[in-house]
Amino acid sequence: MNKLIVEICIGTSCHLLGAQDLIETIQELPEAERARVEFQGVTCLKSCGKGPNVRINGVTIPSVTPQQLIDIIRDNLFK
Ligand code: FES
Repeated sequence: MNKLIVEICIGTSCHLLGAQDLIETIQELPEAERARVEFQGVTCLKSCGKGPNVRINGVTIPSVTPQQLIDIIRDNLFK
């Protein structure tokens, strides 16, 4: 089963805009979902003013909230 690759920008701008909340959201996913997510921190996705930025399977998504991240992950895992 392919894993969903979730890259969260941990650069300074995204950190200040809430990236840590997104990392905690990943860590707190139910185990069945967490096991299917490959999480990576990346240093900058070149869209610093629109953070926090997340790249999922190669697509960068700006201004992501924790709830949006959960929704995006579940949409991708269960589509
Ligand atoms: S610091 Fe996140 S896009 Fe640059």
